[in-house]
Amino acid sequence: MKKIKILAIVGSLRKESYNRQLALAAKEILGDRVDFTLLEYQDIPLMNQDIEYPAPEAVKRVREEVKSADGIWFFTPEYNHFFPGVLKNLIDWLSRPISDKEPQVLTGKPAAISGISPGMSGTGIAQDHLVTLISFLNMDVMNAPRLTIPNAMHQLDSGGKLTLKESHPYLEKQANAFMDFLERHMHDQ
Ligand code: FNR
Repeated sequence: MKKIKILAIVGSLRKESYNRQLALAAKEILGDRVDFTLLEYQDIPLMNQDIEYPAPEAVKRVREEVKSADGIWFFTPEYNHFFPGVLKNLIDWLSRPISDKEPQVLTGKPAAISGISPGMSGTGIAQDHLVTLISFLNMDVMNAPRLTIPNAMHQLDSGGKLTLKESHPYLEKQANAFMDFLERHMHDQ
C-alpha cells in the first residue's frame, strides 16, 4: 500500500524556529509510517495579481507539493494574535485556481494545526484565525485535537533546542489522531 504523504507547512521562516523544530519532532514520531516533508517556500513572491498568470516557478512547485500530499499539517507561530504574514501570503497563492480548468489545490485537503510560543498564549488565537481561513478555502480541518504549546522556554535544553519533554505525549497523540483522520478521509474518497 502507498505510504500516506503529509506535507508540513511551518508559518515561520526563522532557521531555529520552535515551530519548525516542532514539525521535525512530529516527523520523528511518525517515522517510517508516513512520507513526511517540510514545505520550503521562502522563495514565494508577495502576491501580486500582475504576476499571477503564468504562475511563478516557486508557486508552481509548492502547488505540486500540496496537490500530491494526502494531508497538510500546519505548525504556526502567533504574531500579534494572528498567524504570520508569510503564511497568509502562501495560502493566498494556493487559494487561486491554477487555470480556468484546474481549481485551487487546497479544496478537500485534510488539515491539522499545531503551534508553540514562548508566551502564555500557545498560539491558540492565531490557530483560530487559521481555521477561519482554511475552512473558507474548503479544507477538511481536524479541529480536535489541536495542539497549543505555551512557555516554549520551559522546554529547551542548555543549547536552546526544543526538547518537548512535557509536550511530547500530546504531539504523539495528535500525530496518531491525524493518521486516523487521514485514513478515514482516504477510505471515504
Ligand atoms: C511575536 N511573538 C508573539 N508571541 C505570542 O505568543 N503572541 C503574539 O501575539 C506574538 N506576537 C509577535 C509578533 C511578532 C511580529 C513577532 C516577530 C513575534 C513572539 C513569537 O511567538 C516568537 O518570536 C516565536 O519564537 C515565533 O515562532 P518561531 O519562529 O520560533 O517558530
